[in-house]
Amino acid sequence: MNVKGKNILITGGSLGIGKETAKVLVDKGANVLITGRLQNRLKEARIYTKSKIIEFDISDHKNISENAEKCIDILGGRIDVLINNAGIGVKNSINELNIEDFLKVFNVNVFGLALFTKEIVPLMIKKSFGTIVNIGSTASLKGYKNGSIYSSSKFAVRCLTQCWQAELRPHNIRVCQVNPSEVTTAFGNPKRVERENVDNKLTTKEISHSIISVIEMEDRGFINELNIWATNPFN
Ligand SMILES: NC(=O)c1ccc[n+]([C@@H]2O[C@H](COP(=O)([O-])OP(=O)(O)OC[C@H]3O[C@@H](n4cnc5c(N)ncnc54)[C@H](OP(=O)(O)O)[C@@H]3O)[C@@H](O)[C@H]2O)c1
Repeated sequence: MNVKGKNILITGGSLGIGKETAKVLVDKGANVLITGRLQNRLKEARIYTKSKIIEFDISDHKNISENAEKCIDILGGRIDVLINNAGIGVKNSINELNIEDFLKVFNVNVFGLALFTKEIVPLMIKKSFGTIVNIGSTASLKGYKNGSIYSSSKFAVRCLTQCWQAELRPHNIRVCQVNPSEVTTAFGNPKRVERENVDNKLTTKEISHSIISVIEMEDRGFINELNIWATNPFN
């Protein structure tokens, strides 16, 4: 897909991977709308990305239809690409597992992502065209110590990706999953402060490059899943 002139919606575009992806897509001529929970962060991101912005919490399931409708209106009734990027994480050992943390993470990473996508898909089906990129994680592929909640939420995202691939390919809709390993962002930081880049760790630039490469492939094909590792993160 040539992204020039395409309408692209990115959930969680006020920081990190979503923000960098929005900037590059706008530079390539796309009309981009980013979402986030906080007006101030969104306004700052608007300066950096030149995207349109909308504030809502994707875990607010009661208002998800209304919020999706607002996004559709802002983008003039057409969405060519949906990048499901908003996500949060926690670290709990098995002893620390509790329903509040499970729900907090699943409400955003899984239920919010799925219910929001449900609202956008009919537009794509009507046009027999569209690309959905779910941002998973290498935690979608393999569990790890203290990862019970986050990793199981990202396994669920991978499952949604595969189910939607089966349902939506007959409608010419491509559903792709991009799985980054550790990226230096504000992820997991309750103060939402972005981390400094580190030479041997991934930055938002490699991930935005991967996401956009997936989208830019000719529409007759698609990358079902893409894993991104740092070359040598070990020292
Ligand atoms: N960083 C990593 O190491 C890493 C590795 C693998 C996968 N990932 C995945 O990549 C995606 C982006 O992560 P990131 O590193 O860019 O994290 P980030 O810097 O924390 O950014 C997350 C974005 O999601 C938004 N967001 C969070 N909760 C939201 C909610 N309830 N409703 C609406 N927006 C919400 C945040 O905005 P506000 O806080 O302003 O709402 C922000 O724009 C996530 O799905 C994450 O799981 C990250």
